[in-house]
Amino acid sequence: MGEQSIKDRITFHESLETMEVDFSRMTFATKEEIDAFYDEVDRRLAVSKRRWYFLVNYVDCVINPEVWSQFAERGKKANVSHGLGTVRIGAAAETRDTIRKRARTERFRANLYENRDEALFALSEMRKRRQVAGTDADSAYLSVEGINLHFGGITALQNVGFGVQRGEIFSIIGPNGAGKTSMLNVISGFYRPTSGQIVFEGKDRTQLPTHAVARLGFARTFQNIALFRGMTTLDNVMTGRLLKMNSNFLLDALYWGPAKREEIKHREYVEEIIDFLEIQAIRKTPVGRLPYGLQKRVELGRALAMDPKVLLLDEPMAGMNLEEKEDMARFVLDVNEEWGTTMVLIEHDMGVVMDISTQVVVLDHGEKIAEGTPDEVRTDPVVIRAYLGEG
Ligand SMILES: Nc1ncnc2c1ncn2[C@@H]1O[C@H](COP(=O)(O)OP(=O)(O)OP(=O)(O)O)[C@@H](O)[C@H]1O
Ligand SMILES: [Mg+2]
Repeated sequence: MGEQSIKDRITFHESLETMEVDFSRMTFATKEEIDAFYDEVDRRLAVSKRRWYFLVNYVDCVINPEVWSQFAERGKKANVSHGLGTVRIGAAAETRDTIRKRARTERFRANLYENRDEALFALSEMRKRRQVAGTDADSAYLSVEGINLHFGGITALQNVGFGVQRGEIFSIIGPNGAGKTSMLNVISGFYRPTSGQIVFEGKDRTQLPTHAVARLGFARTFQNIALFRGMTTLDNVMTGRLLKMNSNFLLDALYWGPAKREEIKHREYVEEIIDFLEIQAIRKTPVGRLPYGLQKRVELGRALAMDPKVLLLDEPMAGMNLEEKEDMARFVLDVNEEWGTTMVLIEHDMGVVMDISTQVVVLDHGEKIAEGTPDEVRTDPVVIRAYLGEG
């Protein structure tokens, strides 16, 4: 271990809401060494009684492969109990790879940076987004109030209400036929509720049709993939951009200059999304030929091309294998962190919901039966009964 004491390697910067942890030049070879360090971290965090961003310095730090999982486990615990987000500096190639791999299977962001300035900048961006998101329950960004929806004699939704904060990953769960997709259709303007209100950024938009709702900044993906199967990945993602295009055909003909410039701008934007979702290799492939998991990813790409403020995702991981699910969960988290996009997510996989959502609402037979954090909902007897009841 380095000559510096563990105590001196942990610094709290109040003004940045950040705990800086300095692993530089340290070697972790045994579980005891890891525990010694993290016991001190945990103790200091517990005393602080609040959450912090973590800035972790890995310069010339060596973690022996045999103890990586213990190291990661302690880090994760600290994060879950007291973390707001982590940035990492100066990790050597091997450490970087290990962190990236673990980030993928355990659904956290690797956030690796070359130096402290870059990491601090990233931290300040994360803090800014969280401040914008706010925590005041009264000022819901998207507010769903007393929604009723009937199809003939069927009551699909009965007096359902909840508030979604800006920047959060909000999940809707519930047994089959509970009304989840119907709720998303009401939010997107596809269904007009029998009564109730949808308020977005303080304005009532209950009566707006889908295209107008889309213009306000809503994009969605569907429970059953809705892509143009004969068209390439690139073109499918590009269709998401249509709404943003201003030039009309006549102008195109008269002044090809501005139109051309606009098209280039849109193409660049779409290429950025394709890079982000790591689908460069299938840019020119007709989506009908792609495996299911990739089609779902293209559909996410098309929704992202709309540059939405709110992304509505109807079972984005349904029918996927484990690896595809992990990828998708990571992309959802990445989009949320990178762009601060608010997400309303329907998902059946409880593990995923519990891992990535900030808030969960539970529907059953068209009614809201519970609402809260993933932990609150998971242990709610009413929720457990609803799921068991449906077998
Ligand atoms: N367009 C429609 N016409 C008639 N009934 C509908 C329509 N859409 C939904 N319903 C009914 O509303 C109820 C809720 O359906 P919804 O699709 O919202 O459930 P869900 O929670 O998304 O279920 P799943 O988990 O199976 O996707 C069901 O009884 C369904 O049959
Ligand atoms: Mg559904």
